[in-house]
Amino acid sequence: MPTTRRKQVHLAAQLPGIHNVTAWSDPRSESQIAIGSFIRLAQTAERGKFDFFFLAEGLRLREHKGRIYDLDVVGRPENLTVLSALSAVTTHLGLAATVNATFNEPYEVARRLATLDHLSGGRSAWNVVTSYDAFTGENFRRGGFLDEADRYTRAAEFLGLTRELWDSWASGDLPADAERDEFVRPGAGHFAHRGRHFDVSGRFTTPRGPQGHPVIIQSGESDAGREFAASDADVIFSKYNQLDVARAFYRDVKRRLATYGRTPDMLKIMPTASVVVADTDEEAAAYAAEITRALVSPQTAIAHLEAVWGRDLSGYDPDGPLPDVEPAADAHFLKGHSVFRKGRGETARQWRKLAEERNLSMRELVIEVNGGQTFIGSPRTVADAIDHFVQTDGADGFVLVPHLTPGGLDDLVDRVVPLLQEKGVFRKEYTGKLLRDHLGVRAPEYTARPVGDEKETR
Ligand SMILES: Cc1cc2nc3c(=O)[nH]c(=O)nc-3n(C[C@H](O)[C@H](O)[C@H](O)COP(=O)(O)O)c2cc1C
Repeated sequence: MPTTRRKQVHLAAQLPGIHNVTAWSDPRSESQIAIGSFIRLAQTAERGKFDFFFLAEGLRLREHKGRIYDLDVVGRPENLTVLSALSAVTTHLGLAATVNATFNEPYEVARRLATLDHLSGGRSAWNVVTSYDAFTGENFRRGGFLDEADRYTRAAEFLGLTRELWDSWASGDLPADAERDEFVRPGAGHFAHRGRHFDVSGRFTTPRGPQGHPVIIQSGESDAGREFAASDADVIFSKYNQLDVARAFYRDVKRRLATYGRTPDMLKIMPTASVVVADTDEEAAAYAAEITRALVSPQTAIAHLEAVWGRDLSGYDPDGPLPDVEPAADAHFLKGHSVFRKGRGETARQWRKLAEERNLSMRELVIEVNGGQTFIGSPRTVADAIDHFVQTDGADGFVLVPHLTPGGLDDLVDRVVPLLQEKGVFRKEYTGKLLRDHLGVRAPEYTARPVGDEKETR
């Protein structure tokens, strides 16, 4: 009997840490910065046949009440440098870097990503993020110059220009043909771009990479962010890992693609998620509760509420009820964090309602709204839940964030992935070499060099 092919699950792994506040103090945690930690996590993801390994980025250390927010894991090396090193110790795994489009220059970013694409044999990806944040901008020449409304107009032009740069070399532009005495085609690398944010021309240094264009990821969730993803990205991340809201996000984003002449399969939707596996569902539930309590310490709970309330709440008991004062409208205690920048008053109202309905203490509330694990259970329960989520269009796959570095993916890879493979929804072997092959997303049609193309090569 013919069977319809089931949707294939896409999996990525993210280095944990930035938001997971006490993971570093677990005795099993190792360095967040040593090459050995990155290698171990990436090689585990590759053993699990994951699509890619992903590094997030923050360009300024967060501060809480004027001091380094030491409940974060702070101190991170630069992403493309780390991924370049990982390209030498992996063979198939995609390598995805967050690089900010507000504070970099297209020429340099295009060069570094094309280089990673060469070094890795076609496995590079770029998570294009924008920053609204003048606090982060202080680290840069044009600190905070960009209006929120302009973030995505610059990002769109930035990405368009990097695509022009990648297309400035055709794949046959380096013939190195000794008989004809021709090393490079004369038109190679020529580009000219004039736009609202960038006015540049010249020759691009780096020949076309194996993927043509690295995979493009988008992770903003505003209307402008969703449009940007629908028009131009191959993958969109999201925070929606609960099935009902995830389905609404999935429908909304996929329906936007048609406006840009694209089909729904051209953009993969991958929420971030976490997994806790144990022999039985009961054991997993107990372990998840333990992890969550570790991740939301009493100080973390107070700090979270202070970020929303904009007030010093250190005199409150974290195991007692929510503060009886209203949030301060103008004070920002937590700087460099995008989550609470809008609607703190509304967030406070919702949290108070939830705490009253469920009789939650401050710490229990923060655990409830922030600390939960996504998939909890025996390997079978977790595999079924991941499969169900994908088959019912909550997502095309997940970015999995383990709570421990570097051993946090082991259970998932050794115990859950084989069950997904058995179900026929996840690859047993890589079938292609490029990250674009793993994701099933094609590079945009090649656009010929705009000017100075003395010898057409295609
Ligand atoms: C899963 C996920 C991962 C993200 N990773 C980063 C990151 O590494 N660095 C960063 O600056 N912003 C990151 N962001 C933030 C977004 O890029 C974006 O700045 C934020 O969602 C606000 O944009 P918006 O106004 O379009 O929602 C991430 C967002 C999500 C949902």
